[in-house]
Amino acid sequence: MEFSIKQGNPDKQRSDCVVVGVYEGGKLSAAAQVLDKAAKHALSDLIARGDMSGKAASTLLLHKLPGIAADRVLLVGLGKASELNNKTSVEILRATFVALNATAAKDAALYIIDEGVGKDAAWVIRQAIFAAADSVYRADSLKSKPAKTAMLKNVALATLDKPAAVLKNVLEQAAATAHGMELAKTLGNLPGNVCTPTYLAAKALALGKAHKSIKTTVLEEKDMQKLGMGSFLSVTRGSEQPAKLITMEYHGADKKQKPVVLVGKGITFDSGGISLKPGAEMDEMKYDMCGAASVLGTMQAIAEMRLKLNVVGVIPTCENLPSGTATKPGDIVTSMSGQTIEILNTDAEGRLILCDALTYSKKFDPDTVIDIATLTGACVIALGHVASGMFSNEDKLAKELLAAGEQSHDRIWQLPLWDDYQPLLDSNFADMQNIGGRSGGTITAACFLARFTREYRWAHLDIAGTAWKSGKEKGATGRPVPLLTQYLINRAAK
Ligand code: BES
Ligand code: MN
Ligand code: ZN
Repeated sequence: MEFSIKQGNPDKQRSDCVVVGVYEGGKLSAAAQVLDKAAKHALSDLIARGDMSGKAASTLLLHKLPGIAADRVLLVGLGKASELNNKTSVEILRATFVALNATAAKDAALYIIDEGVGKDAAWVIRQAIFAAADSVYRADSLKSKPAKTAMLKNVALATLDKPAAVLKNVLEQAAATAHGMELAKTLGNLPGNVCTPTYLAAKALALGKAHKSIKTTVLEEKDMQKLGMGSFLSVTRGSEQPAKLITMEYHGADKKQKPVVLVGKGITFDSGGISLKPGAEMDEMKYDMCGAASVLGTMQAIAEMRLKLNVVGVIPTCENLPSGTATKPGDIVTSMSGQTIEILNTDAEGRLILCDALTYSKKFDPDTVIDIATLTGACVIALGHVASGMFSNEDKLAKELLAAGEQSHDRIWQLPLWDDYQPLLDSNFADMQNIGGRSGGTITAACFLARFTREYRWAHLDIAGTAWKSGKEKGATGRPVPLLTQYLINRAAK
């Protein structure tokens, strides 16, 4: 799908469909007023007859209005102007693309930027592009007959007045972000028998091939052995698939500039290992590599937008399976940092692969390290499916991430990383144990990681509740690619 910004009168648009807003109570948006005048009051007439209430996210498709160049006019309800918040704005945009995709329109011009939908013009452009891309996304690569592809190809965000020059940049960055989300969704939705650690490594190498600015390297188990990654390697012991440690170095700025390092959990299937998970919904543990997928998606996005920043993606990836060679509860391993870990539950494996990847990340002399992981079921209990959990050892970084979350509407919520929780990880036999008990499970997981990140500025994102949807709408969301990309865009602008 292609996106553009257009200025012009809605009645003159040579588009398959012009989209304008109507407020609840019948007030026409500025663009709708122009159309109404050109169409001899066809719009105010049908509103007077009661065919369009203007209720938020309602739609009405009209054909061949007199005096209008476009074949179709789509009216979208904006609700009450006073109630137009971010949530309703996203619902309005989603409903718009559902209605557009039900038509045969190949292009559409949306007059919504001027209407105070969402926070500001940049915000609504981002959300419109994310909603458009999501509306045509299909996870059908493994169906014998692919679903019908959507007709909609060109989406113009149109304004009556001259749009601000910066919006073109915003649009291009949002389109690249949407492409990155698509990659993250596609990888997340692939089953564990296709999307193996080797498959992820191949994707990362392909990304390095496609973009001169990305250099990908893949470490094998024997390399990790040499580096002393006893914690990471303990997780892959039950699997026949070889573990990989992927690094992608993106150079967009001066070589001397310290990079932001993104570390993504890449468990391509999490059965729990010897601490086997219950059977119900275990298939969803194919999504346990969504942190890794978000790193790949973000790297692709920033390469596509040629962001002026240095960024390194680090992905530890393996399977967590039970077998005669698998790690057992009570086993003690030595991490790359030298700290020993008593593994009391083999299902708390994410932190075991991340801690070695976090120690490894020091080699890039990072300015900031952010890890992204579907780390704890407790995070889903705490925050549900709306916000990702966020922790940081620096308040400024936390604030920057919170702001990027609002800008991209890919929101996060900060949880405490206080030392008061640390004793829950004390072990009688090793430097620490890998679980902290039932209470505060998301926090103790973060506290575990904090023991490996003392030497740099760091944040941890627990995306267990936000990386995918369950039930009828089952599928990866592409989050937190928008958050990460926006954070990096903001960093590059500084
Ligand atoms: N990948 C899971 C976390 C998870 C669970 C994400 C459910 C999304 C939905 C992780 O590896 C895990 O199993 N965590 C355990 C930790 C526990 C053993 C301390 C959990 O959350 O139950
Ligand atoms: Mn697990
Ligand atoms: Zn896991």
